[in-house]
Amino acid sequence: MLTQDETLKTVAPSPSRPGSEMWAAADGTVITIRPITAADLALEQEFVCGLSARTGYQRLMSARRLSLEELRRFTDVDGESELALVATTSIRGRERQIGVVRYVKESASGDAEMAVVLSDDWQGRGLGTRLLLSLIGAANRHGVRRLVGMTLSDNSGMLALARKVGFELATDPRSATITNLALDLAAWPPAAGAGRGGWLLQQLQARP
Ligand SMILES: CC(C)(COP(=O)(O)OP(=O)(O)OC[C@H]1O[C@@H](n2cnc3c(N)ncnc32)[C@H](O)[C@@H]1OP(=O)(O)O)[C@@H](O)C(=O)NCCC(=O)NCCS
Repeated sequence: MLTQDETLKTVAPSPSRPGSEMWAAADGTVITIRPITAADLALEQEFVCGLSARTGYQRLMSARRLSLEELRRFTDVDGESELALVATTSIRGRERQIGVVRYVKESASGDAEMAVVLSDDWQGRGLGTRLLLSLIGAANRHGVRRLVGMTLSDNSGMLALARKVGFELATDPRSATITNLALDLAAWPPAAGAGRGGWLLQQLQARP
């Protein structure tokens, strides 16, 4: 459940890059959330290489690692059929990637498949919520009707994040180890005015 406290955390447009926003984490770290570009290949590669085996497994649902060709494809997106937002912060004066969230539209259906992954030391600190809300805002603006995804059924972090933001969860009929996630954007946020619905609506409208 999203708390009232979270409404007070700073989210502001960033002057530095179009479409980017700044977010202050609870410990005061300033994070930039912005669309990925092809120039981010080295940043993304460093990020992926730094992920623990567990986090990599939770993201890909497999022990394999992404190839350079896949990383190139993941960074060189058109922003329309596929959109990805990276979270970065400055460490000793250098930009470092600490998370990425994306969706890929499925042809004609209005569905888009989403995925999210954070560096290990940024998990459980609210960044997943913030990134997913930014992605939902972008999906709304780009005509996505439903965001779908899948996660391992024992991935308690992703299940909690999905519930918090309003996804419906259903065990995959072919394998109980997989949970399917779906968020109907036509009916989202739930209802303005009260509780989570009002908060979510406010957050979406605040997106740059
Ligand atoms: C899954 C993931 C994106 C969640 O992002 P996050 O920043 O850790 O989540 P948040 O801190 O925003 O927390 C969201 C909610 O989930 C809860 N939560 C976070 N991690 C949790 C965990 N391991 N177990 C149970 N609940 C958890 C939080 O308490 C919060 O709920 P609350 O506000 O009601 O307290 C992140 O942990 C991650 O990158 N994991 C590895 C990759 C992965 O699993 N990707 C998903 C593949 S589809």
